[in-house]
Amino acid sequence: MPAVGGIPTGPGKEYPGNLTPYVVVTCVVAAMGGLIFGYDIGISGGVTSMDPFLLKFFPKVYSSKHGDSPANQYCQYNNETLTMFTSSLYLAALLSSLVASVVTRKLGRKPSMLLGGLLFFAGALLNGFAQAVWMLIVGRILLGFGIGFANQSVPLYLSETAPYKYRGALNIGFQLSITVGILVANVLNYFFAKIKGGWGWRLSLGGAIVPAIILTVGSLFLPDTPNSLIERGNTEDAREKLKRIRGLENVDEEFNDLVMASELSKQVEHPWRNLLQRKYRPHIAVATLIPFFQQFTGINVIMFYAPVLFNTIGFGDNASLMSSVITGLVNVIATLVSIYGVDKWGRRFLFLEGGAQMLICQIIVAACIGAKFGIDGNPGELPNWYAIVVVLFICIYVAAFAWSWGPLGWLVPSEVFPLEIRSAAQSINVSVNMVFTFIVAQVFLNMLCHLKFGLFLFFAFFVVVMTIYIYYFLPETKNIPIEEMNQVWRSHWFWAKFMTEEFSNGNVEMLKGGQALKNV
Ligand code: BGC
Repeated sequence: MPAVGGIPTGPGKEYPGNLTPYVVVTCVVAAMGGLIFGYDIGISGGVTSMDPFLLKFFPKVYSSKHGDSPANQYCQYNNETLTMFTSSLYLAALLSSLVASVVTRKLGRKPSMLLGGLLFFAGALLNGFAQAVWMLIVGRILLGFGIGFANQSVPLYLSETAPYKYRGALNIGFQLSITVGILVANVLNYFFAKIKGGWGWRLSLGGAIVPAIILTVGSLFLPDTPNSLIERGNTEDAREKLKRIRGLENVDEEFNDLVMASELSKQVEHPWRNLLQRKYRPHIAVATLIPFFQQFTGINVIMFYAPVLFNTIGFGDNASLMSSVITGLVNVIATLVSIYGVDKWGRRFLFLEGGAQMLICQIIVAACIGAKFGIDGNPGELPNWYAIVVVLFICIYVAAFAWSWGPLGWLVPSEVFPLEIRSAAQSINVSVNMVFTFIVAQVFLNMLCHLKFGLFLFFAFFVVVMTIYIYYFLPETKNIPIEEMNQVWRSHWFWAKFMTEEFSNGNVEMLKGGQALKNV
């Protein structure tokens, strides 16, 4: 998940640094972390819509899908073990990201990445060769552990190695590699499903070993980051590494700042308790509400279950897999739009526009499905226009997410936390995201069965709420240096009152001459 612990530099301050081979290799390895995460997000939906897979592991679902009596289509996939297969990964990721944050801090970023790669490898192998449901679920849990380690260490590694001026682009770059991973999974599912003999799902699930190997081998060769070496007391080693990473002899300015930042962060004794202070209310709101809302856009209903969903609403198996390739492609392209526009149009514009666009699409899709399937879930003949309209509006919805809540759901939290609470607040952000990813994955098929087409209206309701939150409570953070962020909250109509209290407490050091206020 995007940039976590980069050390902020002062306004206008630029450390020299080149795009050295080290930085390039780092980006490739980091991209593998994102790719693998995306691959796991995208792969399960396609696999669970493949008949040979269902027949082998979930015969009940298979017979309800192909039952003689016209079953209620909304409920054909409603099976708890099946959802467990998808969602167990996120629960494991949540648990392991807590352990991973300690490993990453105490032992370094490199061992965490290595462990992440090895766990991925084991999980993919177990899934590819699975003979029983437990092997599937244990495999997914291993993949989840891998995600916990990789998502904690890779973005940190990235933001600490990247030259300062490339950090923002690399941040969304990580999200881009997630969307590419989802797309690759969708495309492979489409082709593997056609393999005669019905073992294509093994290739789909086992395919994750390719990026797992690259991540594992890559992290063996990469050096640990200077920040991490300093944090663990190897200061001279850190200076040498920084020289090699930047490709320069004189790295004193950046090096001294890294040492200072590390000293400062060591002085923070209770980052978690700190978070409870009144002045951090706006940050707590961001760390909890942004990931919660991101998941309640309903995006993962599409990402996890697109083929199952398209199948449920009347598409054949092949058309379902094809439709998810299309949504996957839209996801990647729209993320590029975000990279282009985020510093031009600003975060708020993208959030608000994306929200409005998602809302309209959700209402239209609900209306279409409702009109055809009604309450009892029996559509009869489905006309062509229906398929086209549904796929079209799902694509427009995915595009809206991919240039708003997708990347910004990670970018905005990473840039608003002050250094002294950054790692704690970021852990909250990641954990909340994983909890709600798990919940959506776990209850979706059941909700589809009960709420029917109303499911889309359920998420539409949350889109309205989150858009109101952005409009009234999220200030614009475009082009604001990280240390000046407090000024943004201080001049906000609502959050200002939480910040001003600090004046009387004397906890805030006021810099003279109308400069930014710092509370380090
Ligand atoms: C979200 C994931 C989602 C993905 C879709 C990410 O930002 O955190 O839950 O599946 O975007 O592209």
